[in-house]
Amino acid sequence: MSTVRSLSPTNINDFNWAQLQGQILSPGRAVDKDGKEITTVGFKRFGFDSEVPLDVLRLLYLRAHYVLPTTIVPNGEISGAAVKRSDGVEYQSKSIYYPETGSISYTTLSRFPPVKLLPPADRKRILVTGGAGFVGSHLVDRLMLLGHEVTVLDNFFTGSKTTVSHWVGHPNFEMVRHDVVEPFMIECDQIYHLACPASPPHYQFNAVKTMKTSFMGTLNMLGLAKRTKARFLISSTSEIYGDPEVHPQPEDYWGNVNPIGPRACYDEGKRVAETLTYGFHRQDGVDVRVVRIFNTYGPRMNPADGRVVSNFIVQALKGEDMTVYGDGTQTRSFQYIHDLIDGMIALMNSGETRPVNVGNPDEFTIGEFAELVRDIVEKVQDEYGIKRTRRVEIVYRPIPTDDPKQRRPDTTRAKQTLDWEPRWNVRMGLEEMVRYYKARMDEGSL
Ligand SMILES: NC(=O)c1ccc[n+]([C@@H]2O[C@H](COP(=O)([O-])OP(=O)(O)OC[C@H]3O[C@@H](n4cnc5c(N)ncnc54)[C@H](O)[C@@H]3O)[C@@H](O)[C@H]2O)c1
Repeated sequence: MSTVRSLSPTNINDFNWAQLQGQILSPGRAVDKDGKEITTVGFKRFGFDSEVPLDVLRLLYLRAHYVLPTTIVPNGEISGAAVKRSDGVEYQSKSIYYPETGSISYTTLSRFPPVKLLPPADRKRILVTGGAGFVGSHLVDRLMLLGHEVTVLDNFFTGSKTTVSHWVGHPNFEMVRHDVVEPFMIECDQIYHLACPASPPHYQFNAVKTMKTSFMGTLNMLGLAKRTKARFLISSTSEIYGDPEVHPQPEDYWGNVNPIGPRACYDEGKRVAETLTYGFHRQDGVDVRVVRIFNTYGPRMNPADGRVVSNFIVQALKGEDMTVYGDGTQTRSFQYIHDLIDGMIALMNSGETRPVNVGNPDEFTIGEFAELVRDIVEKVQDEYGIKRTRRVEIVYRPIPTDDPKQRRPDTTRAKQTLDWEPRWNVRMGLEEMVRYYKARMDEGSL
């Protein structure tokens, strides 16, 4: 364990670093919908093994982004921040935060978590566009732990280098700052094409750019797949169903999208991206996969991007009133990030070329969901002995234009062709996410 000199041990003592550390390392037991303990994510399908221990993954996302010194020794030295695994293996953290000066010292990881050692024939060169975003960074963690060579391509519009910086320096990892609107050449075996802003404030910030990213970005990546004969997976969305008249939504429902509304740049952008994908498939024989992702939440979601789950949790943690847009009767289904990544990896390695919905069919009204989030935040606060001056209120604001009234995936195809079903219940995933945001608030980075 490395050591660094303390700036002021007394002040650091004032900060509740021990509690924070405990929180990072004791995220609680995760159980699935049937009450069975979840110890691994991923699975073995189609001759492909994507299983990874949950504990190792959690080490990468559940600890605070900036780790505080772990031990203060009497002579005023602080032993360097380290993350200890249950088997005793330690990884030096990437950065140490000094609360009393609000400063941070960056270090390089001296050891990476162990990744699978694959024979060259099984080790794939995988390009992940948008790999520094919320979904992308979790996908990158999985693919890295599985032993593949991963290149992240991102322009950091909504993503951040910090989401994957724990892999920088690893021989299997590469990060490239690049805008997918411009052509990009690389040799690769698989492309996960995720690059596109996903939250309404971000994709509406520059509607023309969102359209360009959807169309030209997908065109460039499909061109690359055609040249390299790489398998191509695009992250499409439930938004292509628009405000659906069919409920729940199966893949053969064509949707009900307003082509000129404020959401159209994203909804129509993804629809045309799917059209392009099947154009390359039929015309040029590109091996394609299309995942239609329904609302997904989890750690590393940008808390400022206006999506409902992160909004609710951060508001409740900060003691602010929780904002529901509309009367709260519109419904949504929410899936936890690990279920999505399981589905994406299974789809990529399956023979299914039709679009596949990946989402959690448990449906909530937004009003019910706000109450659930409030309960879970209070439960976590009680565990840490945090006193509340009042109970946060749920307040209602006018609904934005074209906000869909209901959304629930029909996941029959995913079940039949991928043997995939969501495992995480919403409560479990929310609790993990609340702990993640709380840790970030404690360290001062939220
Ligand atoms: N999270 C969800 O609930 C959800 C639901 C449906 C679909 N999706 C899709 O999944 C993908 C990832 O979504 P997310 O939630 O991680 O969003 P995100 O905003 O966190 O990630 C998107 C990433 O793409 C990058 N990016 C954006 N434009 C780019 C460009 N022109 N060139 C290069 N990089 C660019 C961003 O910097 C970011 O890192 C998106 O394609 C999104 O449409 C997500």
